[in-house]
Amino acid sequence: MYLTLSYADGILFLPMLSTRITQLLGIQHPILQGAMQWLSRAELVAAVSNAGGLGILSALTFPDGKELREEIRKTRNLTTRPFGVNVTLLPTSRQVNYGEYFAVALEEGVKVIETAGRSPEPYLKQIRDGGAKLLHKVARIRDALTAERLGVDAVTIVGFEAGGHPSADCVTSFILIPEAADRLKIPLIAAGGIGDSRGLVAALALGAEGVMLGTRFVATRECPAHPTGFREGHHTSGALHQQHGAVHEDGLCPEGAGDGGKGSQPRRTAALHQRGAGPQSPSGRRHRECGHTMRAGGGATAPYPLGQRGHRESGS
Ligand SMILES: Cc1cc2nc3c(=O)[nH]c(=O)nc-3n(C[C@H](O)[C@H](O)[C@H](O)COP(=O)(O)O)c2cc1C
Repeated sequence: MYLTLSYADGILFLPMLSTRITQLLGIQHPILQGAMQWLSRAELVAAVSNAGGLGILSALTFPDGKELREEIRKTRNLTTRPFGVNVTLLPTSRQVNYGEYFAVALEEGVKVIETAGRSPEPYLKQIRDGGAKLLHKVARIRDALTAERLGVDAVTIVGFEAGGHPSADCVTSFILIPEAADRLKIPLIAAGGIGDSRGLVAALALGAEGVMLGTRFVATRECPAHPTGFREGHHTSGALHQQHGAVHEDGLCPEGAGDGGKGSQPRRTAALHQRGAGPQSPSGRRHRECGHTMRAGGGATAPYPLGQRGHRESGS
């Protein structure tokens, strides 16, 4: 099997990418869909998994374990492939029973758990005993090293470009990825500002073994934030195709349509914003729990307020 990468002056056929991340997670392509509160629900998650990546549900979208269980079952009805459940451990204004979310995901046989926002240490035994792989998402090298020491299976490093809650430290992906790759022994996933095949190749060149995309998946018809997705015909497999550079004439890739997929990063962001991924969209509304504004990547929304270092461990 080959992977098709389109470039300005031609198409490259590469052998299928097998990395420690694809092997660890049992997926075809080293591409993960980042959990997005309120947005990464069964349809999006299943579509990504069906296309050979790893879709990830966001547990905190659901008020309790019962509703998370229903969503996991709904996802399983839509895909037979692996998918994950993210439990974001950021401070919240409501009481959250994190243990219940983990328990439900594990009882339902979910094999990939992702944590973010704080150290997963209190839940490590529960996750291990439940037989799942644990991915932990961080925005700082020191948190990546701590996660490795705790025994997580892989780390995702998130640059300041990322959507959601980018790092208060303002360090970008191209700085973080190679340093994390140099210092970690466990596999590394890169996130933050990656939106096309060049981003995937760049992240791999910098030492990552997989990429995680959030903002790019907002502009898919399976994402509830995307009001025009159905009409314009973008879909998740198109997003994955574009990761592989297979840009189609029918414009499956919003930022690539019309220029053969050569859209610049600002154009990518502008295209996503136009399509509802920006601050005015549901993805840009105020975070219910901690009151900060969530954003799609590259947005004009004030990111996590500077000067609040220490409020949390990492990007989510
Ligand atoms: C609207 C939105 C909501 C997000 N919500 C969460 C979340 O609840 N938990 C989490 O761990 N990450 C969250 N993220 C971060 C993504 O999982 C992913 O790490 C990030 O989007 C990658 O950067 P990118 O947007 O530049 O692709 C969110 C991202 C977006 C865009």
